[in-house]
Amino acid sequence: MKSQILGTGSYVPPKILTNTDLEKIVDTSDTWIVDRTGIHERRIAEPGEACSDLGIRASESALANAGIAAQDLDMILVATCTGDYPLPSTACLIQHRLGATRAAACDIAAACCGFVYALSIANAYIKAGYRYVLVVGAEVMSAITDWSDRNTCVLFGDGAGATVVGRSEGEAGILSLHLHADGRLADLICVPGGGSSRPASQTILDERLPYVKMRGNETFKIAVKTMEEAVREALAANELTINDIDCFVPHQANIRILKAVAERLKLPLEKTAINLDRFGNTSAASIPLALDEAVKTGKVQPGNLVLLAAFGSGLTWASGVLRW
Ligand code: ACO
Repeated sequence: MKSQILGTGSYVPPKILTNTDLEKIVDTSDTWIVDRTGIHERRIAEPGEACSDLGIRASESALANAGIAAQDLDMILVATCTGDYPLPSTACLIQHRLGATRAAACDIAAACCGFVYALSIANAYIKAGYRYVLVVGAEVMSAITDWSDRNTCVLFGDGAGATVVGRSEGEAGILSLHLHADGRLADLICVPGGGSSRPASQTILDERLPYVKMRGNETFKIAVKTMEEAVREALAANELTINDIDCFVPHQANIRILKAVAERLKLPLEKTAINLDRFGNTSAASIPLALDEAVKTGKVQPGNLVLLAAFGSGLTWASGVLRW
């Protein structure tokens, strides 16, 4: 028995932060940001608008799209590194607001790879007998962005995507998921303050430690390598070639990474779902956001082969192949 994505949904806050807006905050330029990242603008949550607020909207949309009632959910998984609180989980907040009283709920922490990790857990539970699992990727990256650091503040955005996973009745379904991690590279992308290692304090705030720090150039090279490896592993496991893939839905960090991966794989860029130009890097939300858009705009059609690939802090990287 296979599992299948039965419906998708997404939500981004209306407030747009353009590159020109950023020019007024840090020493940067629209040209630099577009050339180096491909990002033109990103969405930013309002003050007080939390991860669960974005996640609930994406979830409602995915449930409506799947035709599933919240009461029928067996489990809610929220992939995020910017949950409302350290505890309780954002998944529990969404469970309550949806009225999904039967559903178990927890968050998954695998940074930008979180959605694919959560999808693999949903897949396993569906195979074990659960009927419906809601998988959400939701982030308020603006809450952990240092708005005085031009190296990182131009990269991230806020948003949420969601999918309802259930049993497959036919050909459609999740064909494979592969997950990887290498904790030796944990310091490459890190929020060094605010956790149990360096708990919240005035000093932590003064040193600007509760914000994303990244060694961008090293991350870039590893991202290209691991994404390519992840895709090749996924293709081999399914005895597919890159030509069999109809739509590639990668984690959206940098257009140059996506172009380099596509070039190495000999995958036409037109087959790649891209949203980073409008949303930036939305971490765990980027793949479900891009997937929902690809489905709604007809870039993904029934019967298509869809390839997912992600990498992120940890380091973590992952891939998935779906028959739509
Ligand atoms: N505006 C203008 N100049 C800038 C900016 C900016 N916003 N940011 C950095 N620069 C400068 C640097 O200071 C440096 O100047 P210097 O040469 O005088 O020292 C110069 O630009 C080049 O800096 P690099 O870091 O080498 O630039 P690079 O070409 O590598 O681009 C970038 C930086 C965009 C961050 C790129 O490395 C990248 O995209 N890396 C991958 C990021 C990523 O994929 N993260 C995903 C994981 S995120 C997660 O898991 C939550």
